[in-house]
Amino acid sequence: RLPAPFQLPLRMPPVLEPVARDGKADRYEITAREAAAEILPGVRTPIWGYEGIFPGPTIESRRGRPAIVRHRNDLPVPTVVHLHGGHTPPESDGYPTDLVLPTRGWSGGHHSMHDPAAAITEGTRDYTFPLDQRAALLWYHDHRMDFTGPAVYRGLAGLHIVRDDEEDALPLPRGEREIPLLITDRTFAADGSFDYPSLDPSLTRVPGVTDSYLAGVLGDVILVNGVPWPVHEVSATRHRLRLLNASNARRYELALDPPPPNGPAFVQIGSDGGLLESPREHGSITLASAERVDAIVDFGRYPVGTEVTLVNRLGAGSTAQVMRFRVARRERDDTAIPARLSEVEPLRREQAVVTRDFSFRSGRHGDRHGWLIGGRPFDTGYVAARPRLGDVEIWRFVTDLHHPIHLHLVNFQVLSRGGRAPGPLDGGWKDTVDLGPGEAVEVIARFDGYRGRYVFHCHNAEHEDMGMMATFETV
Ligand code: C2O
Ligand code: CU
Repeated sequence: RLPAPFQLPLRMPPVLEPVARDGKADRYEITAREAAAEILPGVRTPIWGYEGIFPGPTIESRRGRPAIVRHRNDLPVPTVVHLHGGHTPPESDGYPTDLVLPTRGWSGGHHSMHDPAAAITEGTRDYTFPLDQRAALLWYHDHRMDFTGPAVYRGLAGLHIVRDDEEDALPLPRGEREIPLLITDRTFAADGSFDYPSLDPSLTRVPGVTDSYLAGVLGDVILVNGVPWPVHEVSATRHRLRLLNASNARRYELALDPPPPNGPAFVQIGSDGGLLESPREHGSITLASAERVDAIVDFGRYPVGTEVTLVNRLGAGSTAQVMRFRVARRERDDTAIPARLSEVEPLRREQAVVTRDFSFRSGRHGDRHGWLIGGRPFDTGYVAARPRLGDVEIWRFVTDLHHPIHLHLVNFQVLSRGGRAPGPLDGGWKDTVDLGPGEAVEVIARFDGYRGRYVFHCHNAEHEDMGMMATFETV
C-alpha cells in the first residue's frame, strides 16, 4: 500500500496567522489535538498534531519581535513545548517537567510530582519567545520527560522561521524558491497508524522502546513535510532549501542524483543558528536529528526536463531516496550567493573560563537499559553544570556511539572534532552537534540571556527518553 516514490506533490505547511498583533508582540494560538491525516493515499493515519496537522503550522517571526504562543492541549496526555534553537527564558523553554495538562482533565501521575520546581499548568500555557536572535530556521516540538520520542513520532513538530533585515538585504532566492523541507522517517502498521515500539502505548507510565529499538526508532517511509517521497516542480533557477532533519533517530547524507554537470551540488549558506559568514560548497550534506542546513541548489545547471532526486546515501532500499525535483522551465534568475553573507563572531579558546567534560554512553539504570550523560540518567534534581551568566565555556563531549548533542538556550561553535579541526558542516552557529562513534568534540558557547534551568541532551529521541539528558543552570 505504500505509494510509488515521486508521485505525490510536496506540500508546504501552512503559515499560521497571529490571532492578534500589538505594539509589543504577535500572539498565536495552537491546539495540540488528535486528528486523522491522509499520508498514504486513501489511508487514514491517526496523528497528534499542532492544529491537528503534521507537520504543524509554520510560524514566521521578525527578529526582536516577540511571539506569544498560547498552546492548548486537547490530547489525552500532558504536553511540553520546546522551541528548538530559540533563545528563550527558562519558563517558556519547555523544561521536560513543565507540563501542560490535558484540557479534559488528568488523573494520571507524572514525573513532575517528583520535581518540586516543575511549573505545571492546566489545559493551556502561554509561551513567550522574545526571538531576539539572528534569522534562522527553528522548530517547535513536544519535550515531555520520558515520552518525547513517541509524541514527536505521532506528529508534534512544526517550523518557526525567524527573519531579519540583514538576511532580507541579501539577493537570495525567496518566495516559492525558498523551500522548507522537514524530513522524517516513519513506519506504518497494517491499519495505517504510525508504528512506534513503545513499551507503554498509553505514553503515561513506562518510558522507552522495546529492546530491538534501543539504538533509536527508524522508519522505512521517508516523509518530507509529511508527504512520502514527494515530487516538486521547480524552475531552472537557484532555490534555497531549508533542510531540517526532524527524524527521531535517522541520519541522512543528502546528495543530488544526477549531480549537476558543473559546479557543486549544494552551496551551504546557513546552519542551525542562521547564516554562515561565507558560503561553503558541499557534494553532500549529512544531517543528524534536529540539525538544519540552509543550502542553495542551482537547478539552472540542469537542462529543462531533468528529474533530480534528493537521495540519502546512508539509506538502503526505500530509505535511500528522499524526494525528487522536476526541472520544469527556464525562468529569469536575479539571485546571487554573496561571498560574504553575515558576521559570525568567532569565540576563541582563550575566552573560556572553564572546560567541562561530559560523556555520552549507554549503561543501565535500575533494571532498565539506559543512555547516560556522565554516568547518570536524567534526574531533575541534579544540575550537571552551573555556568555564570555571560561566561564563555568550552564543553567537551565524548561518546560511545553516534549521538547528536543539543544544548538549549545557547548557540555554540565547534572548536574541534576528533582532535582535529572542525568538519566541513561544523561551521557557523550550531545548537546540535553530531558526534560519531568514539569521537570527542569540543564546543564553545557564551551562556548569556537568561538565568534559570535548561537541559542539554542527545537528540536521538529514544536516547533522550531513556535518560540521555541533563540539566544545566545559568546563574
Ligand atoms: Cu529539539 Cu531539547 O530539543
Ligand atoms: Cu544518543
